[in-house]
Amino acid sequence: MFKVGIIGAGNNGKGHARCLSNIEGVKVVGFADAVMDAAQAASDEFGGKPFTKHNDLLGADVDAVWISSPNFMHAEQTIDAAKAGVHVMCEKPMGLTLDECDAMIEAHKAAGTKLMIGQSTRYGGSLKKLLDMLAAGVFGRLIACWSTRLGHYAAPSPGHWRVNPKLSGGVKMEWEIHEIDVLRCIGGKVTSVYGSMGYSREDVPDYDDTFAAILTFEDGAFGRLDASQGARIGFSNRGLMGSKGMAYLHGRNEIRYKTDDTNGMQTIEVPLKEHEKPEAKLAKLDEDTDFVRACQEDREPTITGEDARVNIEIALAILNASEQKQVIPLDANQPLPKMPEV
Ligand SMILES: NC(=O)c1ccc[n+]([C@@H]2O[C@H](COP(=O)([O-])OP(=O)(O)OC[C@H]3O[C@@H](n4cnc5c(N)ncnc54)[C@H](O)[C@@H]3O)[C@@H](O)[C@H]2O)c1
Repeated sequence: MFKVGIIGAGNNGKGHARCLSNIEGVKVVGFADAVMDAAQAASDEFGGKPFTKHNDLLGADVDAVWISSPNFMHAEQTIDAAKAGVHVMCEKPMGLTLDECDAMIEAHKAAGTKLMIGQSTRYGGSLKKLLDMLAAGVFGRLIACWSTRLGHYAAPSPGHWRVNPKLSGGVKMEWEIHEIDVLRCIGGKVTSVYGSMGYSREDVPDYDDTFAAILTFEDGAFGRLDASQGARIGFSNRGLMGSKGMAYLHGRNEIRYKTDDTNGMQTIEVPLKEHEKPEAKLAKLDEDTDFVRACQEDREPTITGEDARVNIEIALAILNASEQKQVIPLDANQPLPKMPEV
């Protein structure tokens, strides 16, 4: 039996617990949450023991933990798990600084334990299909790609961790680390970053909730990010333009595209697996299964710390570019994002 624990028994931690409970050979043995009621409620629902201290869960004979606490705790808890000899699937964003990311990677290397980061958008079937079409030359040479993610996040209170940039990392980390990841999956290595930050909340004026950025890829193509948690009209789109065609992702599982060879716009529907349907509430099942198998088969996890660290480097470069009003160059010696095989 592969024994797992969850650190952070909020919405997302319980989502992982539901998925893990559905994987054969996996047993959820405990939850650690700073709030005992949250740990207890999760234990009541999924089994296992409740704890308030993550180190107590780490000492409770677990093979791996899923870290789903607020972002500012990811580094400390990931490092403590390595010291306890426990594998880690840590939620995005990996850490809030590059020093944190480096320490997380080093700790798991030293311990010989596995570390994966929850860049869950890589598990979407329509992104995988879009990348296969791009690689097959359907759209020609990549010219540009983009992610627009505008919405309104009404945080419960100005004191909530999500709207404190020191605790969450701001929108660049909390939402947009997914979108940065998607653009890297499409465009590859990022060599420079420019960005401009916006601050729309009067109750939390230092919370960076809005930005636009341009990432330049190694081969000269570029990626655009347009993000806001302060937009009163929700509007989202991810897509790409090539020398022979254009495509965008629509809804959960559609690709809409037009190329020089098609007669009008075409639609491809990428069938959702049963567990991917919203009513199944098992959105993270593929991701969680992938990490469990990586531990059991003693292989490198699909999304390594070194890979996810690049997203943090880009998010921080967006803020630096905005503050310095300068293009920030990045070292192109960076891992390419790897897509899952599940
Ligand atoms: N990959 C994804 O798609 C995705 C989706 C949602 C959330 N997330 C990530 O998951 C994490 C949690 O998000 P959420 O929506 O569940 O947040 P949440 O606020 O609902 O839950 C966080 C939980 O952590 C607990 N907590 C606070 N400090 C703690 C500590 N020191 N140790 C242990 N527990 C502590 C809180 O009491 C709360 O129960 C965040 O890092 C978020 O970015 C990822």
